[in-house]
Amino acid sequence: MNTDQTTSPSPGQAGEPTRWWQDAVIYQIYPRSFADSNGDGVGDLPGITARLGHLAQLGVDAVWLSPFYPSPQADAGYDVANYRDVDPLFGRLEDADKLIAEARSLGLRVIVDLVPNHTSSAHRWFAEALADAPGGPARQRYVFRDGKGTDGDEPPNTWQSVFGGPAWTRVTEPDGRPGQWYLHLFDVEQPDLNWDNPQVREEFLDVLRFWLDRGVDGFRVDVAHGLVKQADLADWDYPQEMLGGDEIDKPRPPMWDQDGVHEIYRSWRRLLDGYSGDRILVAEAWVEPAERLARYVRPDEMHQAFNFEYLLASWTAPAQYAVVTRSLEAADAVGAPTTWVLSNHDVVRHASRLALPIGTPRPNGIGAADPQPDAALGLRRARAATLLMLSLPGSAYLYQGEELGLPEHTTLPDEARQDPTWERSGHRERGRDGCRVPVPWEADAPSYGFGPTDASWLPQPSIWAEYALDRQRGVPTSTYEMYRAALRMRREFGLGGGTLEWLPAPDDVLSFRNGPVGVLTNFGAEPAELPVGAQPLHTSGPLSDDNRVPTDVTVWYRA
Ligand code: GLC
Repeated sequence: MNTDQTTSPSPGQAGEPTRWWQDAVIYQIYPRSFADSNGDGVGDLPGITARLGHLAQLGVDAVWLSPFYPSPQADAGYDVANYRDVDPLFGRLEDADKLIAEARSLGLRVIVDLVPNHTSSAHRWFAEALADAPGGPARQRYVFRDGKGTDGDEPPNTWQSVFGGPAWTRVTEPDGRPGQWYLHLFDVEQPDLNWDNPQVREEFLDVLRFWLDRGVDGFRVDVAHGLVKQADLADWDYPQEMLGGDEIDKPRPPMWDQDGVHEIYRSWRRLLDGYSGDRILVAEAWVEPAERLARYVRPDEMHQAFNFEYLLASWTAPAQYAVVTRSLEAADAVGAPTTWVLSNHDVVRHASRLALPIGTPRPNGIGAADPQPDAALGLRRARAATLLMLSLPGSAYLYQGEELGLPEHTTLPDEARQDPTWERSGHRERGRDGCRVPVPWEADAPSYGFGPTDASWLPQPSIWAEYALDRQRGVPTSTYEMYRAALRMRREFGLGGGTLEWLPAPDDVLSFRNGPVGVLTNFGAEPAELPVGAQPLHTSGPLSDDNRVPTDVTVWYRA
């Protein structure tokens, strides 16, 4: 890919990182699918603690745990009924303490998930709101409104839920009559909180203190762009998309990315800064363009924000060049390091996503009747994408199982699906279950070593044995060993804290240098040449005999 900036450093990475998170590799654990200690088919905290050694060996710096709090599990735990405890499904509060202590002893930091946009409808506050009169103090913690129409039987506005269907549900008043409506941008069982209410603000400061006092190193903030709504709750007639999809040519949505959210994060930042040990806030904010996202990581706000524009970028040299450049520039403008991410619990795993025809819009799940991604092509591109990502300056997020090259489960029986998206979209969107299937650890054990029994809350595909960790450990060409070596070298060469310099290359090749390491990814059909005398350090796939780089391969070489 020919670039204007052949030798000038890209902005964004001046100076050595001084804080652990600036170049950290952070591994997302989805507790229900990581490791099950008691054989009930759902992963749990003791299961995670017992497997933390795997992550230390892999070479990551920190783990982020998706929610494990008491919850009816209407949205796999993103519907929190009590922010200060552990759901019995996952263990007890002592198990969280043990996990944090064990992680610390292995040199791993721990980030927990915080879900401030909504509670579960099983939260005590919501029960109080339902029992209260319209306009009463308990109602004011949520977003209750009278309906439109003569009998108030039409929703207060036209907003849709991210999971499908209207974003409002009507309640029955304590006297038995049909009453007000409450807002839920997600599931019916996830009522949105009213962040104009000082009690809500106070409560979350206290929840932060609760977990900070228990020793966590930070928080991943769920739906960080959603807390504050435009005051007039103006109609919005565009469909909601779960993730991304907020195209720049639409008017700005009245429910996302309102300027008022930033004051909340400033107050949280002040709280965190009062604690020792460099604790962090990470925004899950599906906000475009990159400049708007960068506002979440201004010096007095959050530390990091997920770079979803990167995750969504097409697998072409120009698209990857553009997104890397834009991300570095936007972060540099506010003096923050960039983050990179390819997979998480909300998107089709990149080992399957990247096999879809280039330009396919991001699918919300893949079903058995859909065209099936080519697993070999997907894995090849996923490995190349990962090696490219791990060579970039900044912090990188990995999602459990990607180090095994796990694909999406694309033939999950529809009756096994649990993501509320499937029902709420009227079976139009399959949703996110396919990336949430329990992890295979041992090829020949029940549930592939996920737990001591065959039980698994989502069925594991029969091909899981070939991806199991014990089949890959010690096998130099395996995806697991590719990740491990990449993480070791990333640390050794200081890539996370390095500086990116683009190098001239053909149109379908991306080529740059990060300190002592040259990086080349070939997106084209023809093999690409390495610079004369380049000594490969690491590759995502074999090079040709004459040291050329085949299609969909990334190489790190000594520059
Ligand atoms: C975030 C989570 C997602 C959840 C939603 C509602 O996007 O990542 O899993 O469904 O928020 O809490």
